[in-house]
Amino acid sequence: MRSWGSVVIALALAACGDDGKSVVDAPAGDSDGPCTTCVDTGVDAPFAPTTLADTGLCADAACTTVQTDVREYAPQYQLYADGSTKRRWIWLPPGTTIDTTDMNHWKFPVGTKVWKEFTRGTVRVETRFMTKLSSDDAAPGAWFYASYEWNAAQNATTLASPQMGVPDANGTQHDIPSRSNCRRCHEGVPGRVLGFQAISLDFAAPAGQLDLADAIAANLLSAPPSPTNGPYFPFPAAATVADRTAFGYLHANCGGCHNPQAPVYSALTSNMSLRLDVTKLGTVAMIPARATTVGNNGTVSGMNGPIVAPGNPGGSVMIMRMNSLTFPTKMPEIGTETTDPAGIAAITAWINQPP
Ligand code: HEC
Ligand code: HEC
Repeated sequence: MRSWGSVVIALALAACGDDGKSVVDAPAGDSDGPCTTCVDTGVDAPFAPTTLADTGLCADAACTTVQTDVREYAPQYQLYADGSTKRRWIWLPPGTTIDTTDMNHWKFPVGTKVWKEFTRGTVRVETRFMTKLSSDDAAPGAWFYASYEWNAAQNATTLASPQMGVPDANGTQHDIPSRSNCRRCHEGVPGRVLGFQAISLDFAAPAGQLDLADAIAANLLSAPPSPTNGPYFPFPAAATVADRTAFGYLHANCGGCHNPQAPVYSALTSNMSLRLDVTKLGTVAMIPARATTVGNNGTVSGMNGPIVAPGNPGGSVMIMRMNSLTFPTKMPEIGTETTDPAGIAAITAWINQPP
């Protein structure tokens, strides 16, 4: 947690007790009322493993040995997490496949488990866990979310409070999010999983980490991309390195909330879409993160200038918001306490490139 007074208040309001809603999606009159869309329903209460080892990731409490049928992966486009390093794993029930009929929105089999471990400096702080409990992803409680905090000795875990998360976990400045904040980020896409998806896995991953080609080879996808609709989804030939870096960054860091399926997508957020779409990669001009930002003005929280003003990063609402740490102007809205210099540099370079 940050130690600056006013920012602590803003972040505390956004993270705990509060429903995390900004003016855009709060019901009329709601300032800090109960959350209407991300409330814990109790449906998942019977399923609450109390330690990480109980979730099936590891053979031992210290997680020195990952179970042999759990696969490690790392998406090529990643969420900035205040400089923490991360590891990720997936487990699918034996014999099941991911329904990839909609290549933009994979539907995972019931029983799927995914994990993400956060290390701040040399301290392993938390391991997040999601598992699918029922087939309708949109049903309340269909996905169970939890985080396990590591102890100082790094050999055991405890379940973090679903209501409060854990501020300054394990002696670091890293905050474990509340469950409503898990939902706020993850439930803006129909399949709930944000990084294990076609575009983020469409690269040559390092040895030992699953990528799209490995997933196809292992028969994990019900409708594998074929030469007519893939097998890979390259950015258009005309895209510059600056384009690719910026679009990938926005896809991972912003696209979970800013996409046509998400609750915050509306005229109030300028119908802005920052998620990549496999059907809209033909030309740079088609890419939603360009098509819905250039020539589109901001509308909310008094920031009414161009979202992206080509050649003028300082005059672009996108950059102003990425430089802000104050709710509700800060972007991403939750999950970070520091601005991301590499992300801001990537978006600045994209906005500055010659037309
Ligand atoms: C600020 C938004 C945000 C919050 C809050 C958040 N996540 Fe995520 N999470 C992401 C994004 C984006 C990814 C994919 C990118 C990556 O892995 O770097 C991800 C990845 C994951 C993964 C790997 C599977 C996947 O979806 O790609 C797990 C597991 C996970 N998160 C669990 C949780 C849990 C549990 C919580 C709450 C305790 C939580 N997350 C809170 C944004 C968030
Ligand atoms: C957890 C959900 C979430 C994430 C992730 C997120 N945003 Fe937002 N975004 C919002 C909400 C909610 C608003 C409305 C904020 C307000 O009321 O001022 C918003 C507003 C905006 C606006 C203003 C739109 C307008 O019409 O005025 C921009 C620009 C923006 N976000 C950019 C980003 C960028 C860039 C990222 C990634 C670095 C990002 N957002 C990540 C939820 C999110």
